Amino acid sequence: MHIRPRLNRCFSRKNKLNQTSRAPFPVPMGSSSPSPSPEPPQSSAPADGASNASLRWHILRRALLSRSASPRASEGTSNDPQEKGDTNKISRKTSRSFNLFECHTVPISQLNKSQGDSLNGNENGVECQRDVYVCYKLPCGGSPELNVIYRRDDSLELNDIEASNRFNIDTTGLVCCWPSEEVLAFYCINHSDMFRSKRVLELGAGYGLAGLVIAASVNAGEVVISDGNPQVVGYIQQNISINAETFGQTKVKPMTLHWDQEHASDMLNSFDIIVASDCTFFKQFHQSLARTVKSLLKHSETSQAIFLSPKRGDSLNKFLDIIKEYDLCYELIENYDPTVWNLHKSYLAGDDTSWPNYNEEHCYPLLVRITFGDFV
Ligand SMILES: C[S@@+](CC[C@H](N)C(=O)[O-])C[C@H]1O[C@@H](n2cnc3c(N)ncnc32)[C@H](O)[C@@H]1O
Repeated sequence: MHIRPRLNRCFSRKNKLNQTSRAPFPVPMGSSSPSPSPEPPQSSAPADGASNASLRWHILRRALLSRSASPRASEGTSNDPQEKGDTNKISRKTSRSFNLFECHTVPISQLNKSQGDSLNGNENGVECQRDVYVCYKLPCGGSPELNVIYRRDDSLELNDIEASNRFNIDTTGLVCCWPSEEVLAFYCINHSDMFRSKRVLELGAGYGLAGLVIAASVNAGEVVISDGNPQVVGYIQQNISINAETFGQTKVKPMTLHWDQEHASDMLNSFDIIVASDCTFFKQFHQSLARTVKSLLKHSETSQAIFLSPKRGDSLNKFLDIIKEYDLCYELIENYDPTVWNLHKSYLAGDDTSWPNYNEEHCYPLLVRITFGDFV
């Protein structure tokens, strides 16, 4: 069934989704090993009785206490089984994706010379064993290839948690490319006309697949790929560098952009399109995310923000309430792409068993189109 809710004066919300149990979590796309710890990313929900934040603090506390005693602890690694167990609990991964792009995983050492050179001097550089890259073949004219560097599965480190606490940000951007990001990238490539010559911003981009795909395939004028976690932005920076030759005339830049921060004046009212995937489950950031969209989106009839987000409990609905509070309009669309919709239906029905434990609430991203809506 295709439900495309109509857009009324300021918002539209006609989806009906089943509330079911939790889904398994992803490994980076292209990786083969599914995760043993099935949990969605939630900033406030308890994991085995402890919240993510408190688990992070426990890990940090243990590390700080042992730092003076053990030089190994200061290297950001630990053999403490308790610490490893806790780190695994907050390193939450999904085991599958929609597999919308042809791709394969390649060791970093096989990046070609110019790409490898662009990583020199970076802490995540060519020799870094914890990273892999995934080579995507894009389904558009000329079938360009895009390489995206990801952390290997299970490589969350103490440094990541320290940085996450220091910058008031979670580590979900390092965990993997979440399925919604792949769907967002696919949606953008299939709606290339809307991006032509536009100034585009990706928020909470993680490794930045969607922003990179936009930069490589739709002739946008400029693409800014942002995240609030500086470590994640390190990956975005690398991913832009190694694909620079694919972007043609499109200007592409990474940016550390935390939704809580004051935004630079040259950013205000300047983006034709803002995209984001799986960024609405952080309820504590709903206000600042809505404020960010409102202040950075160009105030014009044609500008819009496109969010792809699984429902994840009541978090998406709560975000939509905040969008209304900010006098923005939204349209919520359940079936926005026939390929994604058919995959979703066949995972749900069990006709396609390649995504075991597929769970609508946590795996299927809904499309939210946000506009100013006050031009008619
Ligand atoms: C679940 S991840 C999604 C990443 C990517 N969009 C994807 O789907 O693969 C959420 C992302 O939002 C970023 N994030 C969380 N809170 C943020 C904030 N307050 N400001 C900016 N980015 C934030 C995280 O660093 C992370 O990269």
